[in-house]
Amino acid sequence: MSSGTSDVLVIGGGVIGLVTAWRAAQRGLATAVVDPEPGGGAARVAAGMLAAVTELHYGEETLLALNLESARRYPGFAAEVTELTGHDLGYRRCGTLQVALDADDRAHLRELHALQERCGLESEWLSGRECRRLEPMLSPVVRGGLRVDGDHQIDPRRLAAALVVACERSGVVFHRAWAERLDVVRGRAAGVTTADGTELRAGQVVLAAGSLSGRLAGVPEALLPPVRPVKGQVLRLAVPRAYAPFLSRTVRAIVRGGHVYLVPRENGELVVGATSEELGWDTTVTAGGVYELLRDAHELVPGITELPLTETRAGLRPGSPDNAPLLGPSGLEGLVLATGHYRNGVLLTPVTGDVLARLLADGELPEEARPFTPQRFGAVLQEQSV
Ligand code: GLY
Repeated sequence: MSSGTSDVLVIGGGVIGLVTAWRAAQRGLATAVVDPEPGGGAARVAAGMLAAVTELHYGEETLLALNLESARRYPGFAAEVTELTGHDLGYRRCGTLQVALDADDRAHLRELHALQERCGLESEWLSGRECRRLEPMLSPVVRGGLRVDGDHQIDPRRLAAALVVACERSGVVFHRAWAERLDVVRGRAAGVTTADGTELRAGQVVLAAGSLSGRLAGVPEALLPPVRPVKGQVLRLAVPRAYAPFLSRTVRAIVRGGHVYLVPRENGELVVGATSEELGWDTTVTAGGVYELLRDAHELVPGITELPLTETRAGLRPGSPDNAPLLGPSGLEGLVLATGHYRNGVLLTPVTGDVLARLLADGELPEEARPFTPQRFGAVLQEQSV
């Protein structure tokens, strides 16, 4: 059964697939998305920190450049989405405070500060007292922190819902189905077959299926993106109006060597995350996961245990071997990758849409995406594997 041909078919309707489809459609390409539930995916769970500076890890300096570029595009991107859709994205330019709890945590944070400074990033060291002046709900035991005014936040659920509307307004067609298999015809990606046997055909196919990207049937074994699921458990609490403002900015913390973050939204939601677990496809919310998050958040902000706990959820980050995304030609003609965004999918949404649309429309991968081609993992198509 055949149903429709497009210039571009995007597999995956999470924020990365949606932004790619929207931007491709804006460039005049007839574009379709295949996903049983567009607007779902890891963004349903993510906190939405736009944290190029405070999410920096050793050895990720190349990724930092892409993260900063996407952060730079965020104001224009958010304004454009809101203007087109009328949706408020919960984009808050509130800054971030990154704090340390005990002496070891403070030593660790000092090292992170030195790394941030070596990378030329704006980050100011504060005493514990100065941290509490900014955020009075912080525990008296906080030993010091970093004020990073450039790390902001967005509500990923609102972003995903708005991108669905942006796609619809731009003429993107949605096929609400599972892409069961990539179809390869004469050595070229030709489309997908969905779970009900429908064949969707396209000139170019984009694999943007998050953590599922690494196991789509039909992709030649040697070219399957090395993407794996990394579980994150996240809590949502509600700050009653009488308690507001509970926190005025995102607070990230190192708590006895572990990491926790608290993301306060303007509507009173407080997101607390996240565990990081290599447990395959498991998305169970566990007592241990909830306990650890609440324990660390409580040490940091004791008043948190007064708040109603409204939601517990686990999602799967699409992890890659170097923690950076795979953007660009897959090695199979007609198949392009936009996956492996790991901890930075929401942050990297604007730049991913831009570079993918340019590649799909003009055949050229922009400079800023070139360090992130899938070929860096040595994917080479052997003739016999097609
Ligand atoms: N970027 C936050 C997380 O992955 O938990």
